[in-house]
Amino acid sequence: MTDRELINMAFEASKRAYAPYSRFSVGAALECSDGTVFTGCNIENVALGECLCAERVAVAKAVFERRRDFRRIAVAAESADYCMPCGSCRQVLLEFAPEIEVLCAKAGGNYVSYRLSQLLPAPFAPSGDENPFV
Ligand code: THU
Repeated sequence: MTDRELINMAFEASKRAYAPYSRFSVGAALECSDGTVFTGCNIENVALGECLCAERVAVAKAVFERRRDFRRIAVAAESADYCMPCGSCRQVLLEFAPEIEVLCAKAGGNYVSYRLSQLLPAPFAPSGDENPFV
């Protein structure tokens, strides 16, 4: 799948957003190593701290389906600036895919591409067999 196709899936997913508070609809399209794609949208709540980001909805759907081998994610919004994943979503992606490629799109479809390690340097990360909690 091309970057453009994955970004289009993210824009399509953004149409399902429930975002009455921010009025900022976000879509995500998360690609696994075999090309399977899981999509997500943001889902807000009147208790604003309970809002779900599009990226984490896509990750949750994938993990529930026993998929954790993520290679690319597109994040898209009809925004003036590139739609960058928030810090919490960067941390959640790191759990499963420290090298994932992150495509960040804006209105009109232009996008920028990063490695997660560029977006979240020096992370608190699971390190192989090591238990970070001992
Ligand atoms: N949001 C996402 O879903 N993903 C991002 O990458 C950035 C922010 C959502 C959260 C909230 O519903 C709205 O956008 C405004 O912050």
